[in-house]
Amino acid sequence: MTQRALALGKDLVGLEHLSAEQIQVFLDTAEAFKEISERPIKKVPVLRGKTIVNLFFEPSTRTRISFEFAEKRLSADTVNIATTASSVAKGETLVDTARNLEAMRIDMVVVRHWASGAAKFLAERIRSNVINAGDGAHEHPTQGLLDLLTIRDHRGRVAGLNVCIVGDILHSRVARSNIWGLLKLGANVAVCSPKTLLPPGIADLGVTVLRRIEEAIEWADVLNVLRLQLERMQAGYVPSLREYNRVFGVSKVRLARAQREILILHPGPMNRGVEIDSDVADGPHSMILAQVTNGVAVRMAVLYLLAGGEPEKAEAAKTAEGA
Ligand code: CP
Repeated sequence: MTQRALALGKDLVGLEHLSAEQIQVFLDTAEAFKEISERPIKKVPVLRGKTIVNLFFEPSTRTRISFEFAEKRLSADTVNIATTASSVAKGETLVDTARNLEAMRIDMVVVRHWASGAAKFLAERIRSNVINAGDGAHEHPTQGLLDLLTIRDHRGRVAGLNVCIVGDILHSRVARSNIWGLLKLGANVAVCSPKTLLPPGIADLGVTVLRRIEEAIEWADVLNVLRLQLERMQAGYVPSLREYNRVFGVSKVRLARAQREILILHPGPMNRGVEIDSDVADGPHSMILAQVTNGVAVRMAVLYLLAGGEPEKAEAAKTAEGA
């Protein structure tokens, strides 16, 4: 199917408004691009001549570096802008920064911002493609896609699986992108969290609320364990980190009681010994590093498709000469 027929649009702001078919195309294209990162020379000329700006208003390790690798492996020219070293630190607005970048004839902006809605705000005001690398507590669509790809890789499907998202749902853009993506692909989705870390009305999205981690472990095929976002917590959402670990921590002892093997995901960065114990994070069912590997392929797919690449030509694009 051509990109026109798929109508992926100019930007990727979230998974909420994508169809199951559009999500599948991102995943299938990522599957095709995985192999590039396994080559001795990890470079193809797919985005040669394109200029991409990575504009990060919040700290990031995985997402920023993963986008940069994806861009470089597709031969794009990239610029990283850390807001502390740019005129944002002098009070320049997001849109003024982006318009100045556009005046230098860029093609795409990858943006991470602390404000929910920042990516959409920007996408509506500039001509370049905008990719949301995480906006406040709204969405983190490429993380959602890489989580879906990792589940599909290791379980062969997403439809019909029981996936429970555990932890700080309230502050989590990863939770929202996961919920939209998983539901669209036909998974059964639950959340498990202290009441204080659950957004009001979460069940209206079509997810089940599980109150106890033991219940979640009994029910789930996949646990996606989220970080307690301590930096966003103004109030005492949990009595203490030790108490949180005691009541909601994913531990080897708890997992040993499960009826089946549970796939463990975590978007990172982890608070070891808080939401997840080290023997689980480093254990045989942990997909945490596989998620990171898949992140590069997913971001290649997103860049390729938004740049106008056709899904069925991804294989041919990979083998083109001239990188
Ligand atoms: N998963 C994720 O977004 O990690 P970073 O904050 O390191 O990018």
